[in-house]
Amino acid sequence: MKKILVFALAILAMVGNVRADEGMWLPMFVERLNYVDMQKMGLQLTPEELYSINNSSLKDAIVGLGSEAKPRGFFCTGEIVSEHGLLFTNHHCGYSAVQKLSSVEYDYLKDGFWAKNYGEELPAPEMTASFLIRMEDVTNEVLGVVTSDMDWDARERAIKSKIRKLETAASEDGKYNPVIKGFFEGNEYYMFVYQVYTDVRLVGVANSSIGKFGGDTDNWMWPRHTGDFSIFRVYADKDGNPAEYSKNNVPLTPKHHLPISLDGVKQNDFTMIWGFPGSTERYMSSYGIDYNVDTFYPIIIDIFGKQLEVMDEFMQQDDAINLMYADNHAGLANTWKNFIGQCKMLRKNKVSEAKVELEKDFMKWVNAKADRKAEYGNALENLKSGYETMAAVAKPLFYPNFMMQVGPVSRTSIFEDYYDAVEKDDDAAKEKALAEMKSMDVDALFAETNQQVEKKTFAEMLKLYRNAFDEEELPEFYHKIIDKKFDGNIDAFADYVYENSIYATPENIKAFINKPKVKKIENDYVYIINNQMMSVLMGSALLYRMTNETIAENDHIFVKGLREYYAETQPGKSLYPDANSTMRMSYGSVQDYMPADAVHYDYICTANGILEKYIPGDYEFDAPKRLIELIEKKDFGAYADENGELVVCFLSTNDITGGNSGSPIMNGKGELIGLAFDGNWEAMSGDVNFEPKLQRTINVDIRYVLFVIDKYAGATNLINELDIRKSEPMPVREEVEVSEESEVKQIKPAKPAKPTKSSKVKAKSKK
Ligand code: ARG
Repeated sequence: MKKILVFALAILAMVGNVRADEGMWLPMFVERLNYVDMQKMGLQLTPEELYSINNSSLKDAIVGLGSEAKPRGFFCTGEIVSEHGLLFTNHHCGYSAVQKLSSVEYDYLKDGFWAKNYGEELPAPEMTASFLIRMEDVTNEVLGVVTSDMDWDARERAIKSKIRKLETAASEDGKYNPVIKGFFEGNEYYMFVYQVYTDVRLVGVANSSIGKFGGDTDNWMWPRHTGDFSIFRVYADKDGNPAEYSKNNVPLTPKHHLPISLDGVKQNDFTMIWGFPGSTERYMSSYGIDYNVDTFYPIIIDIFGKQLEVMDEFMQQDDAINLMYADNHAGLANTWKNFIGQCKMLRKNKVSEAKVELEKDFMKWVNAKADRKAEYGNALENLKSGYETMAAVAKPLFYPNFMMQVGPVSRTSIFEDYYDAVEKDDDAAKEKALAEMKSMDVDALFAETNQQVEKKTFAEMLKLYRNAFDEEELPEFYHKIIDKKFDGNIDAFADYVYENSIYATPENIKAFINKPKVKKIENDYVYIINNQMMSVLMGSALLYRMTNETIAENDHIFVKGLREYYAETQPGKSLYPDANSTMRMSYGSVQDYMPADAVHYDYICTANGILEKYIPGDYEFDAPKRLIELIEKKDFGAYADENGELVVCFLSTNDITGGNSGSPIMNGKGELIGLAFDGNWEAMSGDVNFEPKLQRTINVDIRYVLFVIDKYAGATNLINELDIRKSEPMPVREEVEVSEESEVKQIKPAKPAKPTKSSKVKAKSKK
């Protein structure tokens, strides 16, 4: 029975034309592939209003958020919401920038930050905003360089060099930033031409107890009551071009900005999400899935879990440590829980089993013809043996790799040049190395690390490593140093290292620099650990790299065959490419779901849930007093729904993944109704296989976002800047008094500014 069911599911997933909810589609094909479908579901815009390279269109309001000027990848998505370059994204997307702007004294993660005018906005470190100018198919140009005599390696090199040339040619002397990416495992190539703005400033962010309410306990799960938004502004030079930060820069006048709808959501309402999903594996073979579930994810879960445990212990007791590790912790915790969920749900949703059935059908089709057999006949076999090799080298690759990134071990490179110079007896090189050591900013090496956390992590990771391997597989130092000299007591060993190692503390590093000696390096326990871990790593790294290439090559062949297989067996089926940090559109509807037998999850949740979850003083479920009061009084202003409740988050069937965070979710008129910020637990397998019945996107409702900005924070300057619409002919906002005893600390801005005591806002009817 089970097997038949799985088989039936596999078939179901494969037949039919475009399915509304599944798919991350390239906007340039919207008219050809999706438009009719979208219109039927409730879209009211024309294809030209969605994506146009001649006129301004919706795509011009969608922004890729990166951390460098070259837009190879984006960590999140943002959207422009005013004619002055105001940008909304998630709280967890602005998190890193907000952390960098914070200090224990001005802790914007803890207390929030609201700029009252342009002058108070804070330049966000390492945040760039990329606008897509156009995209084009360059498959023929790129693959034109491939000849039949090339092996995979030569092919990849030829493609890379062609890509570089095409990108340079399209840059128009640096005006644009073109990026070419492979699709369908290197079977197609598209160029994306961006303009990258590097002056992005923080405008507003709520306290983490709103923006991260529920913490890692609620992360990846519904129901969710997180106000996951933050606000930035894109700045340009006076001509509207990208420019490095300067006082003379002005807010960007965008080609398009999204209007905001206060109409709210009903079940079955059409929704679309535009953004920059990072990566999916929808065409992965069963062998790849098994490798992840059985080998790769468990290793990472083990390592990250331990690191998080140590961080948690210190962070929850100390504000300074909490701030210092906030971003690092959030990133690890997010991946850690995601991998746990993926292991569980890939098994539970029987994703590998469904792939096995597909692969059987595929092979039947392949074997039916000699030419197919010649081209595709070995791909799956090669993937199978590739992943077997990968599974064998994973442990000796990843454990030492992460061990070498821990505190003192990660610093062993600082004396490497000196050591090499002495070894080679090269006096000039030695002089140079010594000069570099003398001018080294030692304290800067420790700016982002706390000694207690580091030492404990060092010790715990050594224990973890010992646990993960058989005794005879362990690097020598475990027996020769830790067992022999410290009786196997790793904590005592760590204490010794932090007293004595030349890599452990700023003092020890400085002392070494004053009196450097090669012998000191060679006898240093940390140096020894690094060397021995390195040789374990090197023992597997080459094989790992080669296997990776084998897998890439055979994935390329498999996906090529799969597309042919679909084209012949299911003509009319549109395939969408895996996510790869390029602009995509996904459309669906507002929907509830059944997470388990007899359990029904509603498609909205309200502020009442915040009261239910609220635990004063808790690390994850505390909430600002003023927020609680507003909710208790149901003082929601214009942001309440028709029952007087405040909707906080809602669910939709849109197909998204990491990188989509911060993406606008819009109604049929292209108006902003929320920000996408998460996926749901029951469909953690969703990056590999879309689960129509279970998979949902979690969005923060735009009315909750505006409520927090307006009623909670009193940032009416921002509300006035937005293009807010409501269908019924009623005023958008009632008269709002921002209370005198506003608990929102105004918020010790870096450049002190006068808090607004009371601001009265005239009801504005925008249409
Ligand atoms: N799961 C969200 C995502 O991947 C991130 C949520 C961040 N929140 C947190 N509690 N770590 O986009």
